[in-house]
Amino acid sequence: MTTPKKLFIKTYGCQMNVYDSERMAEELGTQGYVATGRAEDADMILLNTCHIRERAAEKVYSELGRMKPLKDLNPNLKIGVAGCVAQAEGEEIIRRQPAVDLVVGPQSYHRLAEMEARTRTGQTALDTDFPEEDKFEHLKARPKAKRAPAAFLTVQEGCDKFCAFCVVPYTRGSEVSRPAERVLQETQDLVERGVREVTLLGQNVNAYHGGMTLAELIRALDKIDGLERIRYTTSHPNDMDDDLIAAHADTPKLMPYLHLPVQSGSDRILKRMNRSHTAESYLKLIERIRKVRPDIMMSGDFIVGFPEETEEDFQATLDLVEAVNYSYAYSFKYSTRPGTPAAERPQIDPAEADERLQRLQALITRQQRAIQESMVGRELSVLVEKAGRKSGQMLGKSEYLHAVHIDGSGHAIGDIARVRIVAAMTNSLTAVPL
Ligand code: 5AD
Ligand code: SF4
Repeated sequence: MTTPKKLFIKTYGCQMNVYDSERMAEELGTQGYVATGRAEDADMILLNTCHIRERAAEKVYSELGRMKPLKDLNPNLKIGVAGCVAQAEGEEIIRRQPAVDLVVGPQSYHRLAEMEARTRTGQTALDTDFPEEDKFEHLKARPKAKRAPAAFLTVQEGCDKFCAFCVVPYTRGSEVSRPAERVLQETQDLVERGVREVTLLGQNVNAYHGGMTLAELIRALDKIDGLERIRYTTSHPNDMDDDLIAAHADTPKLMPYLHLPVQSGSDRILKRMNRSHTAESYLKLIERIRKVRPDIMMSGDFIVGFPEETEEDFQATLDLVEAVNYSYAYSFKYSTRPGTPAAERPQIDPAEADERLQRLQALITRQQRAIQESMVGRELSVLVEKAGRKSGQMLGKSEYLHAVHIDGSGHAIGDIARVRIVAAMTNSLTAVPL
């Protein structure tokens, strides 16, 4: 028997990349690859990249520079770049780093096995097509092995919204939804492998229309025995329809946590961002959601330092954050992305943007801490995902997506534990079993 080839995948960016990396590893698994956690041992290194902000792409190039000497140690080593940097930069990657053997975009990795074979004959393989065929229909069947209790599942890709700062419509293409029956089948298979929670993923997941709306899909998933929890991310405010809001009240397995990016609290900036909603319409929307599901925890994304953002605009963002009270929020300094409309506009002073980012992050952290502290004494349900560092401690997520450490738990991975929260840190909670 030949020794198996070893695959090292490093994943950058969003949860969709995490899902894609899993599918790529499974695809190369059919070619005899097994996973390794050490790049030094690998016969194939695959960087699954993100292009959303500038530094992300630069990180990839420096990582490639670090990986290159490994080829001197192992002449069989092939290096590949997948994901959104691969899509955006294409051949440029091989020009800039000739140690790269393979470049594959997010919509064509169903061709990965055949591309890998080509690299073994000494060629480079490049594929950044947006093919007609659906990659998910052409990937080999997923293996049957047992797996971790929480899984990501991509149901929608791409974006037709064209926010002025964003590369996604160019790297992932236009909005496409996977057929609902495929999603239901894949979830059923995941449940048979031990999965109890699925997070439905899409760049605009609430624009899902795979023969059902997202609300209808969630209700159909709710009926699958053995599946206990459903989440979805990321959503656009304009696609939060009445039925999806209602699903937060009437679908027991849908968890009370919603990631709903708004990007800015200033209508002037929202307009320039091409967001097609206002701060007020966003706040009204959250009011409607909280009316049907009062305990829902909100999270969001923010960009500071967008071209022409004034101190007054930034204040409006702080005001919006105060009004919403986020349990978690991601905030980013605006990063110029070539080819996007905002890239051509006058940029603001980077030191000013840094300072705003710090002020926003301080406010977000304060809110997050206060919410975490308000959980002390509460009883929550935790999906147990792994063992903790301390003996007898288990780690998992609450229904509100808090990371929870359960001391002296006695629970097994995959259990849903009823616990009482006894302490709060900024990023996690400590609990005892009930
Ligand atoms: N600069 C900074 N942040 C960005 N995001 C998207 N594009 C940019 C950019 N050019 C942020 C948005 C989005 C999240 C995924 O990344 O907040 O919601
Ligand atoms: Fe990018 Fe806007 Fe589409 Fe989100 S909605 S992926 S931020 S263009």
